[in-house]
Amino acid sequence: MENGLFIGGGGAEYGEKQYLDLKYANRHGLIAGATGTGKTVTLQILAESFSAAGVPVFLSDVKGDLSGLADRGSPDFKLHEAFTKRAAQIGFTEFTYDAFPAVFWDLFGQQGHPVRTTVAEMGPLLLARLLDLTEAQEGILNIAFRLADEQGLPLLDLKDLQALLVWTGENRAELSLRYGNVSVASIGAIQRRLLVLENEGGAEIFGEPALDLADMMRLDADGRGQINILAADTLMASPKLYATFLLWLLSELFEDLPEVGDPDKPKLVFFFDEAHLLFDGAPKALVDKVEQVARLIRSKGVGVYFITQNPDDIPEDILGQLGNRVQHALRAFTARDKKALRMAAETYRPNPDFDTETAIREVGVGEAVTSMLQKKGVPGIVQRTLIRPPSSKLGPIPASLRAQLIAASDLGAKYANAVDRDSAHEMLKRRADAAAKAAEEAERREEEQSAAEREFNAGRRYSGTRVSRSSAKTRKRTLNFDDSSLGGAIANVLVKELKGTTGRRIVRGILGGLFKAR
Ligand SMILES: Nc1ncnc2c1ncn2[C@@H]1O[C@H](COP(=O)(O)OP(=O)(O)OP(=O)(O)O)[C@@H](O)[C@H]1O
Ligand SMILES: [Mg+2]
Repeated sequence: MENGLFIGGGGAEYGEKQYLDLKYANRHGLIAGATGTGKTVTLQILAESFSAAGVPVFLSDVKGDLSGLADRGSPDFKLHEAFTKRAAQIGFTEFTYDAFPAVFWDLFGQQGHPVRTTVAEMGPLLLARLLDLTEAQEGILNIAFRLADEQGLPLLDLKDLQALLVWTGENRAELSLRYGNVSVASIGAIQRRLLVLENEGGAEIFGEPALDLADMMRLDADGRGQINILAADTLMASPKLYATFLLWLLSELFEDLPEVGDPDKPKLVFFFDEAHLLFDGAPKALVDKVEQVARLIRSKGVGVYFITQNPDDIPEDILGQLGNRVQHALRAFTARDKKALRMAAETYRPNPDFDTETAIREVGVGEAVTSMLQKKGVPGIVQRTLIRPPSSKLGPIPASLRAQLIAASDLGAKYANAVDRDSAHEMLKRRADAAAKAAEEAERREEEQSAAEREFNAGRRYSGTRVSRSSAKTRKRTLNFDDSSLGGAIANVLVKELKGTTGRRIVRGILGGLFKAR
């Protein structure tokens, strides 16, 4: 096949070559199967083939074993013979070992270039999901985002969001009039969730320089697509963060990329491993959004491939959009398993040579029931396909090689260091400081004035000797600002206090109309 990716051999004795048509590769796909049945290797060979065809790839590396894409396989490897035999069986005569242009990314910046996004780009819907907020709390988050917009406060990192929430709390009386009840309890709950997220390493993800999608969509000097490998082993400990981040990346792609209709080959292929995490307990609004993004991102030339153990982990509306399928073996121990198996089998176009349900139960490791989109985007008849062996290394590369590749990457300089640009946190702090200063000034002037008045009145009524007695009394009673050193100390205390809650309350008094200004 001219415009297809070779995936393996089907038919009798596995001699009929099976292809994924690049023209329909943006119509999404599914890789499913029980543990140890060959999902990761299938992902690996698809990533290799897309890259070789000049299509950049994004994938998350859940167990660390996909880093092998960066290195070539070896005839010394224990499975070399098995690979060669398999290649011969499926007529894969051009099978060779090869390394691919991999770029490593890591939300935590440890095992790859740091991937950052801003709070504003993540948006309230995804953040609410990330923080597991209730509807009421999500409402408040929406108000806070809107305020930041109105006030021209950039929301970049978690500090910005925290400062914004504090500010929202302080202005909640006015806000409640405009938007309905803004409760302290809800704000407090969001703040506590933010703390949890921070403890999970969330602070590092939000900030700048934010990821530039173009850096994921490059070709190397030989025209091969860059394979972006997101380290997800640590990330998997925070499944919500993992799923939300990938969803964010998808929606960014959707928003940023131009319409291309149906291209000859995709602009990018996105593999979503452990896809069930995206849908576990997800509210309907979110599932709808995923469904919508999947449907629309196709015309931007992005193919999305979900990887999961059981196809019934994926909501039906989305499953129905996954045109290219590699179904590895499913177990059928329980009644529920059996039902899921039957349902999975029913979604395929039957092959007269075998029973789909039996085949899904029987296929061996590295073998699958496959169905790829064919002419006019019609699903092909189901095949029993022996998947081709990988050309790159099976399993992880050593940490030293990884470090070397990261150091050599030209993207390092751009992303290595976080930049803390002026944003909501700093701006609100400056506003508060300025207001506190103004408050302090006003208070000092008032004090000075009344002290002067007292002095004046005292001078009018009493002689010089009594003035000194009176001033001693004043010092005790009213914080005498005549004494410059004492006044300085008191001013400091005052400023400190103004920076605390009391200060902020004063600030609110003075700048009460602050957000009404615009
Ligand atoms: N296409 C293939 N060619 C050769 N060997 C394969 C192929 N697919 C799978 N294997 C063999 O089967 C093993 C398990 O496959 P793989 O790691 O892909 O399973 P998995 O479904 O990802 O499992 P898990 O759910 O545990 O992650 C591989 O390490 C390899 O030895
Ligand atoms: Mg795997």
